[in-house]
Amino acid sequence: MKLNLAILPGDGIGPEIIEQAMKTVKAVAAKFNHELTYEYALTGAIAIDKVGNPYPDETHELCMKSDAVLFGAIGDPKFDNNPKAPVRPEQGLLAMRKKLGLYANIRPVETFESLLHKSPLRRELVEGADFVCIRELTGGIYFGEKGRKDNGNTAFDTNTYTRAEIERILELAYQFAAKRNKKLTVVDKANVLESSRLWREVAQEMAPNYPDIKTEFMFVDNAAMQIIQWPKNFDVMVTENMFGDILTDEASVITGSLGLLPSASIGIHTSVFEPIHGSYPQAAGKDIANPVATILSAAMMFEYAFNLMEEGKAIRNAVAASLAEGIVTVDIAEGKSYKTSEVGNWIAEYIRTH
Ligand code: IPM
Ligand code: MG
Repeated sequence: MKLNLAILPGDGIGPEIIEQAMKTVKAVAAKFNHELTYEYALTGAIAIDKVGNPYPDETHELCMKSDAVLFGAIGDPKFDNNPKAPVRPEQGLLAMRKKLGLYANIRPVETFESLLHKSPLRRELVEGADFVCIRELTGGIYFGEKGRKDNGNTAFDTNTYTRAEIERILELAYQFAAKRNKKLTVVDKANVLESSRLWREVAQEMAPNYPDIKTEFMFVDNAAMQIIQWPKNFDVMVTENMFGDILTDEASVITGSLGLLPSASIGIHTSVFEPIHGSYPQAAGKDIANPVATILSAAMMFEYAFNLMEEGKAIRNAVAASLAEGIVTVDIAEGKSYKTSEVGNWIAEYIRTH
């Protein structure tokens, strides 16, 4: 099969973790006889520095004509403490999501047996936890009307959702639930927010169309608590953009490390696969960042963008082996730790030889 990829390394540790993921992508392509072509493009702070735009038109054109996008990370501390910066790296990510129509962000939360002791939760709470967060990604407060009034002394952001936006993300969430354990938790703040009441109204209308699936509603504050207290009770969780941003970071750490979790953003045009962690600027260039989340994002890419399940599995098996053998970076190492590049090499070699 022809695999035509756009590679967007971005900022901070982005380039080095992408390099490791590409080692595994090449190993899988060779092993399964796929014809791999790929092209790199600019995004994020580095794109602002080079061409003044965090998501340049050339990058968008490349994404549009590719079969999948592998994305590193975005963000640079020089912008974080400057609320007056005219253009920010994160705007590149948001522009990419909007222009590619990536309305769903899929974040699986899975535990790895060999890392359970790294979880901040007790083993018995988290062992076997396995759920998927589906975050709406192109609507809500991220994209609603925003601005300043009163000479800049009043600021507002608007949380707007249309019925159509809610329906399409719920449909996708129901499809996931149908393939899993048939339970969908719709997270909102319907006791306060009008937008949440529309979410709930739409979900209640749709629920009877999925009689095999148990639809449950949960307020977001309660959900934040339940993720910690009863993570095993979730199967598929769906929520709006901002709640999803917060809850997925929370969910990610219960498994032991933020450095392990991948994500897929899917929708109308080319899908994007990226680790859920950020650009970790303190570690940039040091060869210490954990490449596993990006490598698992590549596994999701094979599965979601190309429906190549065996290929995804080959990557997952290699990652599981590296964790079991202790070939891991310093963030999760018990004794000896390995460099980012060493972990990448080991995983790629495992794919080649198994
Ligand atoms: C994420 C990130 C982004 C978001 C930032 C970098 C704009 O936190 O992908 O979760 O808030 O969506
Ligand atoms: Mg986030």
